[in-house]
Amino acid sequence: MLRLGLVGTGRFASRSLAPAIRGAPGVRFRSVVSRDAERAREFAYREGAEHAHASLGDFLADPDLDAVFVASPDPTHEELVLAAAEAGKHVLCEKPLATSAAAARRMRDACKRARVRLGVAYHNRHHPAHRQLFEWTRAGELVAIVHVRMFFMIQAKDASNWRCRAPNPWWAMAAVGTHLVDLACAIVGEDVEDVFARFSSPVFGAENEEIARLSLGFPKGATAEVGAFMTLPTLPSRLEVLGTKGRVSSEGTVGPGGGTMLRDGAPVAFENVSSYQGEVEDFARAVQEGRDPACSGDAGARNIEVLEAAKLSSRSGRRERPERG
Ligand SMILES: NC(=O)c1ccc[n+]([C@@H]2O[C@H](COP(=O)([O-])OP(=O)(O)OC[C@H]3O[C@@H](n4cnc5c(N)ncnc54)[C@H](OP(=O)(O)O)[C@@H]3O)[C@@H](O)[C@H]2O)c1
Repeated sequence: MLRLGLVGTGRFASRSLAPAIRGAPGVRFRSVVSRDAERAREFAYREGAEHAHASLGDFLADPDLDAVFVASPDPTHEELVLAAAEAGKHVLCEKPLATSAAAARRMRDACKRARVRLGVAYHNRHHPAHRQLFEWTRAGELVAIVHVRMFFMIQAKDASNWRCRAPNPWWAMAAVGTHLVDLACAIVGEDVEDVFARFSSPVFGAENEEIARLSLGFPKGATAEVGAFMTLPTLPSRLEVLGTKGRVSSEGTVGPGGGTMLRDGAPVAFENVSSYQGEVEDFARAVQEGRDPACSGDAGARNIEVLEAAKLSSRSGRRERPERG
């Protein structure tokens, strides 16, 4: 049994994470911490956490807490993950892992030194349709993956969110582009070798990009095109995977859940189960089995290296290689 505590009491935590923690077999919802005592108590009561804390120190000092799920804004992840590792707790951290590659590496290394597992919450890896796709690619059924294409559209009301400006370095990339890069790597089964990116802010003129379009190159020659849009009408996401022996496409599977998938034009049946619960279950099993979760701290740090290279490319106008460390 993994006794898991949650940092952050936002809408996303209520809507998606708390039900996933409650529903995951082998997981107990031990506690929640908020910066406000009343909010912590109210969240714990409403969402079924056993204990509520208003201090990170008290939350982490609990000897019956095994692991922490960090679900606070990206610029706070580093401090929280380092504190959890120092307290000897395993960590599942929301995406993107950090706001710089240097910070992501510090987090990865601190968890390794503390001998705790670090996972990054890329729930799209756990969508049942995507798990089916990974099985096909692992079994070589599409033979070689040649190209992946993904689009994700959200219509933000305004540019008042913390993602839109410093100290956060990205908007569209942090909100959704990071998922698309992670999923492209998981489908191709390789790390990104180079990236060409175009960032723009045509609607609100936001400090950070409203639109990010990326062209990714992989070491064995596969390519991916991904587009993350914060200012388009919210439409179902699109995914297309072209292999030398088959083609898979989906609508609405990248995102909170649901959607439809076709393989060579024929509908693919899959269970409509929560990808968020899938990620919590995978993390709990990884801790129990002494292995890395589906997306490890290493993979999370490599994702940030791609995000940094994308930002660099959007400024240089050139294809850039992620700086690996
Ligand atoms: N995978 C997905 O589908 C998905 C979707 C949405 C968000 N996310 C990720 O989840 C994380 C949170 O995003 P969000 O949109 O939920 O953010 P948010 O609503 O702005 O903040 C979430 C919660 O974090 C706590 N918090 C805020 N500022 C803090 C600070 N300075 N220090 C410590 N805690 C703080 C707050 O809880 P208290 O006020 O109670 O302390 C807040 O309710 C981000 O990393 C984001 O990328 C992932």
